[in-house]
Amino acid sequence: MKPFKAAVFDLDGVVVDTARFHFLAWQRLAQELGFEFTEKDNERQKGVSRMESLEILLEVGGCTNLSPEKKEELAAKKNEWYKEYLYEMTPADILPGARDFMEYLRRRGIRTALASASKNAPIILEKLDITELFDAVVDGNSVSKAKPDPEVFLKAAEKLGIDPSECFVFEDAQAGVEGAKRAGMRVVGIGKRDILQKAEIVVSGFPEIEPVILLSCIELKDTCAMEYGHV
Ligand code: BG6
Ligand code: MG
Repeated sequence: MKPFKAAVFDLDGVVVDTARFHFLAWQRLAQELGFEFTEKDNERQKGVSRMESLEILLEVGGCTNLSPEKKEELAAKKNEWYKEYLYEMTPADILPGARDFMEYLRRRGIRTALASASKNAPIILEKLDITELFDAVVDGNSVSKAKPDPEVFLKAAEKLGIDPSECFVFEDAQAGVEGAKRAGMRVVGIGKRDILQKAEIVVSGFPEIEPVILLSCIELKDTCAMEYGHV
C-alpha cells in the first residue's frame, strides 16, 4: 500500500457541526410544507448538493410536480435560514480536536485539503478563521458533480499534486465515503460504524483519539483496527 501524503477533509459534520444547522433549516422547510422530516431522513442528505438535498426532502413529503422555479425558491429559502446560523459562528465553533489534528498533520509534513459539497464553504472557513489550515480548497462552487461522484476528491488531489492513492479522506457522510472510495482514496469515517461501513477506520470524533494514535492507525491500519475495537 502506498504511503499516506495528504489528508482531505469534508467540512460539514467533520470540521464544524453545520450538519446540525442543515438539518434544522431543512426541518423548518418541511414544517412549512406541512410534513415531518426526521434525522434519519436527513442522513441521506449528508454530503449531497443543495438541490439533491431538496429532492430528498420533497420525496419524503410526497411533494411531486413542483416547477423548477418553485424548487429554486424553496432551496433559496432554506439557504437563507441556514445562513442565519452561519452568521452566528465564531472560531470557537470548530469541532473539538479538528484544529489540533490538522496542525499536527501539517507539522508532520502531511498536506491538507478541503473537499466539500457546500457553496457556503468560503463563509464557514472565514468565520472559523481556518482558511490557512488548507493547502487546497475545493467546494460546491467549483464542482459540477456532487458526492458520491469522486470529482471533488480528485480535484483536491490534483490541486495538491498528490496521487489519490496517497490521500486519506475524513468524512461523516455515506455519499462522501462512497465518493472517496471511487476516487481511489482511503477513508476515516467520523460518526457511527453502522452508517459508515465502507470506511477503513471509524471514530466518533477527533477527541476520541490522540492525533499521534490516529495517524498511526492510518499508517498501520489493520493492526490498529484490531487493537482499538471502535476504530
Ligand atoms: C454538504 C452537506 O457538505 O453540503 C449537505 O453535507 C449539503 O447536507 C451540501 O446539502 C450543500 O451545502 P450548501 O451549503 O451549498 O447548501
Ligand atoms: Mg459532511
